[in-house]
Amino acid sequence: MLATLLTAAIAVVGASAATPKPPTLTFLYSINITMAATQDIGVTPIGDRGILPINGGSFSGPKLSGNVTAGLDWGLTDSKGTFSPEAVYVLQTTDGAKIMVTERGRAPNVILQFDTGHANYSWLNTAVGYASGGPSAAGISLDVWQLTPPS
Ligand SMILES: *[C@@H]1O[C@H](CO)[C@@H](O)[C@H](O)[C@H]1NC(C)=O
Ligand SMILES: *[C@@H]1O[C@H](CO)[C@@H](O)[C@H](O)[C@H]1NC(C)=O
Ligand SMILES: *[C@@H]1O[C@H](CO)[C@@H](O)[C@H](O)[C@H]1NC(C)=O
Repeated sequence: MLATLLTAAIAVVGASAATPKPPTLTFLYSINITMAATQDIGVTPIGDRGILPINGGSFSGPKLSGNVTAGLDWGLTDSKGTFSPEAVYVLQTTDGAKIMVTERGRAPNVILQFDTGHANYSWLNTAVGYASGGPSAAGISLDVWQLTPPS
């Protein structure tokens, strides 16, 4: 028993010495998000708070495409000028699924989680997305990738 534990402990230590295998990124979609005028809440003790109503947009990728219906970003800009988005919005796919996206991060890095009751997209419920991008003419443009653990 003790020997087994010791062997397991040595295996763990041994494993940590080597560089772990990296996760992989699989392209999900590109998205343009449009926004109505920002309501600036002002500089609060934790940063400059803005309320950015998401009022449309479109996304396109190999497994899902469609439009953005609505949402809200209540991000913060810190004293160094770094924007931290915090947003929830809805993707409506061309085949009628509604997917809620929860987005957080610190520009230019954004992490996304998905919620949907649609059977054809249930794989998104356990997926984690990584996005990079930034402001565009009409709002925000992002390229979204699915982060998959090493196999
Ligand atoms: C996003 O906007 C760019 C620039 O207008 C356009 O080229 C691109 O096709 C749009 N992408 C989507 C998914 O709508
Ligand atoms: C989705 O967006 C496209 C391009 O902006 C538009 O032509 C189309 O009518 C929209 N579809 C729906 C269902 O809103
Ligand atoms: C899911 O996709 C299949 C195959 O494309 C389609 O036949 C089915 O109607 C879709 N399910 C729903 C609930 O839309």
